[in-house]
Amino acid sequence: MALKAIIMAAGKGTRMKSNTSKVMHLAHGKPIVKRIIEALNSLEVEENILILGHKKEQILEYFGNDISYVVQEEQLGTGHAVLQAKEKLVGYDGDVIILNGDVPLLRAKTLKELYTLYLENKVDGIILTANFENPFSYGRILTEAGKVTGIVEEKDATEEQKKIKEVNAGVYIFKAQDLLYALDRIDNKNEKGEYYLTDVIKILSQAGKKVISHSLEDSMEIQGVNSKVELALTSKVLRDRKNNKLMESGVILIDPNTTYIDDEVIIGMDSIIYPNVIIQGNTEIGENCEILPNTRIMDSKIYSNVRIESSVIEESIIEDGATIGPFAHLRPKSHLKENVHIGNFVETKKSTLEKGVKAGHLTYLGDAHIGEKTNIGAGTITCNYDGKNKFKTVIGKNVFIGSDTMLVAPVTIGDSAVTGAGSVITKDVPNNALGVERAKQIIKEGWKKENE
Ligand code: UD1
Ligand code: CA
Repeated sequence: MALKAIIMAAGKGTRMKSNTSKVMHLAHGKPIVKRIIEALNSLEVEENILILGHKKEQILEYFGNDISYVVQEEQLGTGHAVLQAKEKLVGYDGDVIILNGDVPLLRAKTLKELYTLYLENKVDGIILTANFENPFSYGRILTEAGKVTGIVEEKDATEEQKKIKEVNAGVYIFKAQDLLYALDRIDNKNEKGEYYLTDVIKILSQAGKKVISHSLEDSMEIQGVNSKVELALTSKVLRDRKNNKLMESGVILIDPNTTYIDDEVIIGMDSIIYPNVIIQGNTEIGENCEILPNTRIMDSKIYSNVRIESSVIEESIIEDGATIGPFAHLRPKSHLKENVHIGNFVETKKSTLEKGVKAGHLTYLGDAHIGEKTNIGAGTITCNYDGKNKFKTVIGKNVFIGSDTMLVAPVTIGDSAVTGAGSVITKDVPNNALGVERAKQIIKEGWKKENE
């Protein structure tokens, strides 16, 4: 059976108090609307149609040309929103799944269940619901003999209706032509003066169509984001889901409440993640790693047995057994091979450090290639930038770079060479040679007394 999806994302989201579109807010690292589209991936949807309006540029910029959308110029209600997609449904005899754009906790599994129930029961419509002890603010489900006969919004509900605990989640499946039939018949004669999508149910029911509801066990899943309090609340749920998955797969989280790990991140068994660690983007971490407090890692690949403490790692590769920090910064395209050690206040960028390289303290290595087992003394800097262009520093293997060496790139230091501490190296140093650039030390005996 053919299925199209309509995602309503045109609303102002007034209660968010923000210059960002409500659905572009990040719920645990990902735009809310992106989460909905991902959940829809479990269904074979032939077209995801976004209803855009308020701040639509932000959504279009994010998705690029990847999406199909229609514009709702004025936000006159959810029914009016869906009506904007009419041109995409005329003559289409498949089904339509409609979703509120502000429900980031919906699971793919739930949507799949909903669609399966709709097909198996051969009904004309199905809506997702939940049972709330405190149903305040949600649309209440009106039923009769196992069928849904309508949805009444909080503001329009009678005292009796307000007591109904089954509420509308904002996810609906209808036959496209039934939907169009009903949308043509809704009005805005209600407390808010809006065209409600929810009125479609009553119209279909009165036309003799059978609409049923599917009530969720985990009612939290339908939590909408209407304010920044709810944004934090849903983010916390998503974070917990990810953390639980990691722990179930064998990762140790010392304190899941202070561990922030994006959905796409992969971590191997017995790796330990300490408090106040943030792991973002497409990061992969191997087994038996120790990620100590106050570390942020993004878009990086980390092999096994790596130890990182209080450091920032961006778009880098770190191989087996490397140790990093505290207080190191690996900027994009740093590649640390096996057993490399990077210590305090070391920054690397676009540099490859071969096996066993050590840079223990206070160093900047940019645009450099450093050979196996080379030791970089404290205070060493690759002077890679002349104000206009970047140049490369090549250091061989088993080199000893003395403390406070300035390597003025482009420059090459041969294998097993040595540089003298405090040297400004502007010329290449051959294999096995000593490169030293340093004024002779002068001793003035008794200088202190004479100058008192
Ligand atoms: C809606 C439902 C309510 C349900 C609740 C679940 C209606 C009338 N009510 O209420 O029964 O319990 O969701 O969360 O549908 N939007 C547009 N254009 C508009 C208005 C809204 O695109 O003109 C979009 C919003 O961006 C949002 C979604 O529709 O993504 C829902 O709108 P919202 O105003 O949040 O509806 P609720 O009052 O939460
Ligand atoms: Ca809402």
